[in-house]
Amino acid sequence: MNIIEFRDFYRSELQKTNKESDYIFKILLKEICNIDPLKIALDPNFNIKPENDMLLRESLKKILRNYPLDYIINKKSFFGYDFYVDENVLIPRPETEELVQWVIDDNNNGDKKKLIDLGTGSGCIGISISKAINLDVTLADISKDALHVCKINNDILESNVKIIEYDLNTEFTENQFFDIIISNPPYLDYYSKDEIDENVNFEPHIALFAPIDDPLHFYKQILVFADRNLNKGGQIYLEINPAFIKEFKSLLTEFKPNDVNFRMDFRGKKRLVKLSF
Ligand SMILES: C[S@@+](CC[C@H](N)C(=O)[O-])C[C@H]1O[C@@H](n2cnc3c(N)ncnc32)[C@H](O)[C@@H]1O
Repeated sequence: MNIIEFRDFYRSELQKTNKESDYIFKILLKEICNIDPLKIALDPNFNIKPENDMLLRESLKKILRNYPLDYIINKKSFFGYDFYVDENVLIPRPETEELVQWVIDDNNNGDKKKLIDLGTGSGCIGISISKAINLDVTLADISKDALHVCKINNDILESNVKIIEYDLNTEFTENQFFDIIISNPPYLDYYSKDEIDENVNFEPHIALFAPIDDPLHFYKQILVFADRNLNKGGQIYLEINPAFIKEFKSLLTEFKPNDVNFRMDFRGKKRLVKLSF
């Protein structure tokens, strides 16, 4: 098949879905076949070699099953950086970039504060912050596989963060105190599992769902962590589930921050919050 025939094959296979066939085809050409997508226009008779033919057909089957394109190409752009991603980590979301920007805007005065990113996954939050401002950044996650992805990203993006294994359900035994805690913890409600976008089915459930019947579990754990390990005058920046704002506010009455600031995400949902202590 030549490149145009392949593009048309993608178009016909994907026409009954709401997927952007030409965009997907071009990305796959570039990222997995190493073929410049400009060839579609400039060299329409360009022949797709058998090994690439196979890769493109296998990828199409995955796309038709709603498997995320980002996992096929092992790449997701976040805050201007290409992060390596695979099935062991959540695919970074654009809402989370707004949380990163908030921390950067508040802390770009040169003070070398200590920050910990709890539930770091791919490391997208902590690494992006460490590239923008001079903070002492630690990334923490319970998942060894996610921490492996973090290490890959720390290397390819040439950042200089510390990476530690830590389970938020346990006491933090390292004698360390932080000025800033940031987290996008698992916050989806298990009961809304069936309504959630099919793409999400391929992401690690440990990264997505809060424990059944306790959607605020990780927020409690983060606040307990802060009680012991956040310096006086410190801040916590969180991504929260807009469906549980009321419950989140009542949780705060126990921990008494001095100030609470909510922000809308770019979709107009109350999803970001800063707590000052
Ligand atoms: C929603 S993902 C966020 C990933 C990344 N920070 C981002 O914003 O794209 C939540 C992360 O929390 C981690 N996690 C789940 N349970 C945890 C626990 N008990 N202790 C620490 N991390 C946990 C998961 O492995 C996952 O990487």
